[in-house]
Amino acid sequence: MEGEDDRLSQREKSLKNSKNGGKVKKIILFTGTTAVALNFAYFAFKSFMHRRKSKALVGSNVRVNLTANEIRKLADRITSESKEVYDAVASMPVDKVKYQDIMVLAELEARHFPLVQSCVFPRLVSISEEVRKASAEAEHRINTHIGSCRKREDVYCVVKAFVARGEWINAEAKSYVQSLVRDFEQNGLNLTLTKKEELQRLQAQIDGLSMQYVQNINDDCTFLLFTKPELEGLSPELLQIFDRADNDKVKVILKSNHVLPILELCKVGATRRKVAIGYGQRCKEVNVPVLESLVQLRHKFARLLGYDNYAEYAVGSRMAKSSSKVFEFLEDLSTSLSDLAGKELAVLQELKKNEEGDEPFGIEDLLYYMKKFEEENFHLDFGALKEYFPLSLVLQGVFKILQDLFGLRFEVIVSAEVWQEDIRVFSVFDLGSGELMGYVYLDLYSREGKYGQTCVLPLQNSSLLANTARQVPVVLLMTEFLKEDGNYPTLLRFSEVVSLFHEFGHVVHHICNRSSLARFSGLRVDRDFVEIPGHVLENWCYESSILKLISGYHQDITRPIKDDVCMSLRRWRHSFSALKLRQEILYCIFDQIIHSTDNVDFLELFKYLHPKVMLGLPVLEGTNPASCFPHSAIGYEASCYSRIWSKVFAADVFASKFRDGALNHHIGMQFRNKVLAPGGAKDPLECLSNFIGREPSIQAFVDSIAFSSVG
Ligand SMILES: *[C@@H]1O[C@H](CO)[C@@H](O)[C@H](O)[C@H]1NC(C)=O
Ligand SMILES: *[C@@H]1O[C@H](CO)[C@@H](O)[C@H](O)[C@H]1NC(C)=O
Ligand SMILES: *[C@@H]1O[C@H](CO)[C@@H](O)[C@H](O)[C@H]1NC(C)=O
Ligand SMILES: *[C@@H]1O[C@H](CO)[C@@H](O)[C@H](O)[C@H]1NC(C)=O
Ligand SMILES: [Zn+2]
Repeated sequence: MEGEDDRLSQREKSLKNSKNGGKVKKIILFTGTTAVALNFAYFAFKSFMHRRKSKALVGSNVRVNLTANEIRKLADRITSESKEVYDAVASMPVDKVKYQDIMVLAELEARHFPLVQSCVFPRLVSISEEVRKASAEAEHRINTHIGSCRKREDVYCVVKAFVARGEWINAEAKSYVQSLVRDFEQNGLNLTLTKKEELQRLQAQIDGLSMQYVQNINDDCTFLLFTKPELEGLSPELLQIFDRADNDKVKVILKSNHVLPILELCKVGATRRKVAIGYGQRCKEVNVPVLESLVQLRHKFARLLGYDNYAEYAVGSRMAKSSSKVFEFLEDLSTSLSDLAGKELAVLQELKKNEEGDEPFGIEDLLYYMKKFEEENFHLDFGALKEYFPLSLVLQGVFKILQDLFGLRFEVIVSAEVWQEDIRVFSVFDLGSGELMGYVYLDLYSREGKYGQTCVLPLQNSSLLANTARQVPVVLLMTEFLKEDGNYPTLLRFSEVVSLFHEFGHVVHHICNRSSLARFSGLRVDRDFVEIPGHVLENWCYESSILKLISGYHQDITRPIKDDVCMSLRRWRHSFSALKLRQEILYCIFDQIIHSTDNVDFLELFKYLHPKVMLGLPVLEGTNPASCFPHSAIGYEASCYSRIWSKVFAADVFASKFRDGALNHHIGMQFRNKVLAPGGAKDPLECLSNFIGREPSIQAFVDSIAFSSVG
């Protein structure tokens, strides 16, 4: 339905452009009084357009397409207003402070968030470098300001005094005030002065070392040289991505865009091994000591705040709740996968034996033989498949699914103000009541200066407070699709289709929660939970009926992809999943151990864990995972497991409630009401259990991947 709109609006747009062009030309051609009249008409038209364009969206305080100067001014306004409010709270007499006095902070947050985002998001999307720069500066200034507010002793004392009296108006207000206190205390405000200073010193050291760790990896440009025969298996086109050294050897830089094609395609085992070892040894000298110090500092930091170790601090506020629960989860999953992983490995080992004889099988062989198996068994040509996924058709399908499942109707807003002409804005309505739920901005095409990653950014959270107007959720979805040129439409790779579904999971999640407090209505729910809606939605990309709905050969969209392709995609999805997951689990266990125990010898630990988890395959010699930790040692410390966690429980949701893949509106609405709507206030485990009808379990996931090629 909406794709229709979408195509219409494209057509409208090109019509409009040609109309404008026509008008402008006419104005130049006419002279005298006719010209005056026409000019008048033109300006009237322009100002009409302008008026329509600048018409604000009802319930949204997000401001788009600001100039650099406007951004600077807005940032000034935000910081000064916020200081005033904090000062006012600080000046309350502690024995008289009332609920309303504290809630001005919630109002401030709700009112400011869309304004802050208005300053901040142009950094990612603006077509003007000047604007991007102003936006980055504003972001830095606002962050620094907010950081200092959260360290205000005077405000903390007032809030604490109110908490001590225990006069709660309602549960939501209570959790709000408690979360304020938690913010302050995470900054050490309830510690003695010396401890507080130490906490800040530690934080600064941790930030510094984290940056250094990442910087070292980014700066590393180690390369290896190979002759052409040593790279057999790589196509001539692929070989072109590599530079040549003087002696005409091929220069392989140890970055993923060079390393992956070799590990996947190079027929020469010795080359794969060299590359895998080189890749695993990056930054060994510099980064191993950095990570060792980082882990020690993290433990110290957590202990100052009263935790036993860093993992307890990091996991405590998540769905998993404790480090021991994480270990239990990883071990259960690993055990459940062991038979299947063993079968998968045996298949690969057999392939290698046929191709390379008695050479022992190593970690460096995994990708190559997985790829080989997939090519021989699935016959999936992803290049050709792309021809069946025109963007407009996929989007139309996504909107239909969201309507049928979750009762959300998307309607394009033709005249909304945007920052670049390709951006489209949609209102989202509740199908049942017709009520406006929120707005979605879609910025789908890649362009110069735009942030190069697919993501969802909340621009405004829902809020409904006594002294402020109702704000509805507003969200921006950014992707990096190539824009259509001439008569060729934008076509999506299958992986891009899946990722679009995933991101719409976040969009729906954001739109569906309308807590009265902005703090609790965004995606700032439990971080183990936040990925679940995206993973749930991805499942529909593998259902034949849905694949037929969203696909159509671009020159004749009445021709969807064939049944056997649907079937292959389904099987391909989980091929070697058990083995891949065991490898991921290995790193997660490593991460969880080093962050819950003192003085671990990283290398010894890894040498011990590797063969245990990877079915006997030893560590690549000379590598130390601490030097260039794959799942990012920075930002996911003690929480690497979270990615698998959300996938596993999303699989449970899908398998237990949507098993047949049908668009069951009744169950979709239950999901919306029981899982998406409660957002951050309710325990996510409780929400999921309430929806599924029992505690979430790993079994559905294990069963779903057992349906794999080799199982
Ligand atoms: C500070 O607050 C934390 C968390 O609220 C609490 O666990 C800790 O005991 C408090 N420390 C002091 C010194 O009051
Ligand atoms: C954004 O604002 C500038 C003026 O600051 C204007 O020239 C431009 O047309 C606007 N862009 C869009 C897409 O409306
Ligand atoms: C959104 O979440 C809050 C708690 O975080 C909950 O109280 C509220 O009911 C949710 N909104 C909707 C529309 O259910
Ligand atoms: C709105 O939600 C986002 C996450 O989705 C969160 O980061 C932000 O802090 C929330 N805004 C407010 C005012 O709490
Ligand atoms: Zn996601």
